[in-house]
Amino acid sequence: MSTLLLKVNPTNPEMSVIRKAAEIIKRGGLVAFPTETVYGLGADALNEEAVKKIFEAKGRPLDNPVIVHVSNEEMLRLVTENIPEIAWKLISRFWPGPLTLVLKRSARLPDITVAGLDTVAVRMPRHRVALRLIEESERPIAAPSANLSGSPSPTRFEHVVKDLYGKIDAIIDGGETEIGLESTVLSLVSSSPMILRPGGVTIEQLKEVIGYVDLHPVVLAELELDKIIARSPGMKYRHYAPRAELIVVQGEHSMVRKKIKELIEYYAEKGQRVGVLFIGESGYGADEEIKLGDFGDFVQIARNLFSSLRELDEKRVEVIIAEGVEERGLGLAIMNRLRKASGGRIIRV
Ligand code: TXA
Ligand code: MG
Repeated sequence: MSTLLLKVNPTNPEMSVIRKAAEIIKRGGLVAFPTETVYGLGADALNEEAVKKIFEAKGRPLDNPVIVHVSNEEMLRLVTENIPEIAWKLISRFWPGPLTLVLKRSARLPDITVAGLDTVAVRMPRHRVALRLIEESERPIAAPSANLSGSPSPTRFEHVVKDLYGKIDAIIDGGETEIGLESTVLSLVSSSPMILRPGGVTIEQLKEVIGYVDLHPVVLAELELDKIIARSPGMKYRHYAPRAELIVVQGEHSMVRKKIKELIEYYAEKGQRVGVLFIGESGYGADEEIKLGDFGDFVQIARNLFSSLRELDEKRVEVIIAEGVEERGLGLAIMNRLRKASGGRIIRV
């Protein structure tokens, strides 16, 4: 399949480009587009055949439902039922933005979009290109992250090209995404609001608006807990993983540095190429190193995380050692992705 590459101004998108992409969505094709979190792989959420193609292109298991993206209240009502009061509170504070709400689905959605569940995950993105594309398509757009299933989510056009070129109809180039991690998935169908996936909106921010918020145990779990009945089906798959083996070291900073130096030496002795993802001023003199961000700058660290994992893979390192962060604010989402990408290999010092 030939893939159309469409360059766009991310803050003031040319309508000619948006129209071209919307035409593809309307006739049941696949378009990758930037959002404020990561790139999404979009299809008409109401078109069963179109959504099926998303799963095929990504190699995504059919029991992992995708997020439905809307641009107005009418579309939200079209895909959901019984929207509770608490949802409206959250919507007025966080939409458009990186908050996905799990609500009761409507019968208008084909089963494949929600993987046969009686709920739907829905969000309104705040990226201009994403919003215009949904508006111009005049229908909700189903879109998981635009990566091959299991690999780190794409935060740049080049990442999407690498994973999906030749497999989808078009890719819109809107530059680098702002947040770099996916949206927060919050269930509003459990007895109390529960975070199924931490992301761009923090638990602290949610609590300010609705008081109490639960954290699903799998968010903090050391390993993929297949035995927990996963409420968010995506929880049970290995995710975000680079090809290289990944080890995360978390704790007091001087102890972290000491431990990482030991690990570098250990792998160097075994003759393995080591890459390090570090935080703060100085690296470690490993084979390859990338600075994730300044100390405590979770915004910067989040933005760089996925692209740095991909970059180290391209540099063909065999082991990646990453400095962990504290699990507060965006740090909760950063550690959740590092935990999943490492398969739970976290050393605490
Ligand atoms: O930031 C984002 O959310 C990006 C951009 C493109 O919007 N999208 C994204 O989609 O990350 P995806 O498909 O990669 O992740 C969707 C997550 C998965 O963990 C999935 O299991 C969960 O949302 N999910 C989808 N529908 C659900 C439902 N009905 N109930 C519970 N979890 C659901
Ligand atoms: Mg994904």
